[in-house]
Amino acid sequence: MNSAMHQPIAPAPDWSRVRADFPLLERTVYGKPLAYLDNANTSQKPDCVIESVAQFFRERNANISRAVHALSEEATNLYEGARSALARFVNVQSAQELVLTSGATMATNLVAYSFLLPRLKPGDRVLVTTMEHHANIVPWQLVCERVGATVVAAPINQRGELILEQFIEMLTPEVKFAAVTHVSNVLGTINPVAEIARECRRRDIPLLVDGSQAVPHMPVDVPAIGCDFYVFTGHKMCGPTGTGVLWARRKWLEAMPPFFGGGDMIREVRIESSTFADPPQRFEAGTPNIAGFVGLGEAVRYLTELGMDRISAHEQELLVYAEERLREVPGLRIIGESPHKAAVISFLVEGAHAHDLATLLDLEGVAVRSGHHCAHPLMQFYGVPATCRASLAFYNRYEDVDQLVVALHKACKLLG
Ligand code: ALA
Repeated sequence: MNSAMHQPIAPAPDWSRVRADFPLLERTVYGKPLAYLDNANTSQKPDCVIESVAQFFRERNANISRAVHALSEEATNLYEGARSALARFVNVQSAQELVLTSGATMATNLVAYSFLLPRLKPGDRVLVTTMEHHANIVPWQLVCERVGATVVAAPINQRGELILEQFIEMLTPEVKFAAVTHVSNVLGTINPVAEIARECRRRDIPLLVDGSQAVPHMPVDVPAIGCDFYVFTGHKMCGPTGTGVLWARRKWLEAMPPFFGGGDMIREVRIESSTFADPPQRFEAGTPNIAGFVGLGEAVRYLTELGMDRISAHEQELLVYAEERLREVPGLRIIGESPHKAAVISFLVEGAHAHDLATLLDLEGVAVRSGHHCAHPLMQFYGVPATCRASLAFYNRYEDVDQLVVALHKACKLLG
């Protein structure tokens, strides 16, 4: 008998009780119950995360790694505990392979300037996809411009899926780096990142995967993907803002020079020059967001207890329901129809501007994001300036979707 058979099957959480962990969801907006459907933008925070941050400031606040007193040691242990928890969360064996940053954007810029820039030559290329967030385009452009290299994008199809064969064809010898999102923040499309990583490895092209929209919604096993760099942000996964992670293969981290300098990242400083600490401290100059990482460590504990597989399954059920209900709205078109997608639904309604729609939905207590979603190339591909986007989390209810649909019918009447 296989040992897994002895493990008790954990019951699915009672999702309505889980929702009660999020105090903000109790509030009203314009006198209406809040249906918070902007989770791809930022997630709400459970009481335990809020309390862990407050408790840190009330009882433990001190700087890390700089003093021998008890408070500093406690703060250091909490901060390093968060690093270890984050490593376990994405199945990374060594927490020392995780650099703690202010977010995925900072993590990506760190790779762009410290890893890629010294390796780029005129004529080189960086391959991305048409569905990338600006944070996975602009850093590469900035370093490419310095040396006369270029960023090129692999195309997607109308359903919003990466055309993998074309991505592979574009992995030519000029391509020195590739960067793709794990899950699109606009389309919800889940990219075949393990397959992409395999093709990149075959050609010795380092690959960065942006996991900001994946890690909060599904189990992620970074080593199983086989990429070289994986970045994600804390505030979309129930943690505080100003927190993020760069995971990189140890050999790359060891080869990378510091990106910015300051205290806590050095071995020895002379006026003429300095030597630097080993990774990850080499990349963590200055006082970090200690309280933020305390909160993120707590968020990881909370999500782990709920179970990422159960979160993913529940969000998939909500997605199916939401897409079915949205299709009832006359003139509504969903942008992003991959069968393999996360619970992110971008949509347009004939004759209505996305911002007008979002404003009217807001008046009904429904928070969605409208605009280009920091994805101009994707908007250009679809030939639209903006979309409305409802993005779900495990604490959303079917009633939130119903509230969205009722509000949409009302808004369409007003705008029609
Ligand atoms: N905050 C960005 C969004 O809303 C990533 O999609």
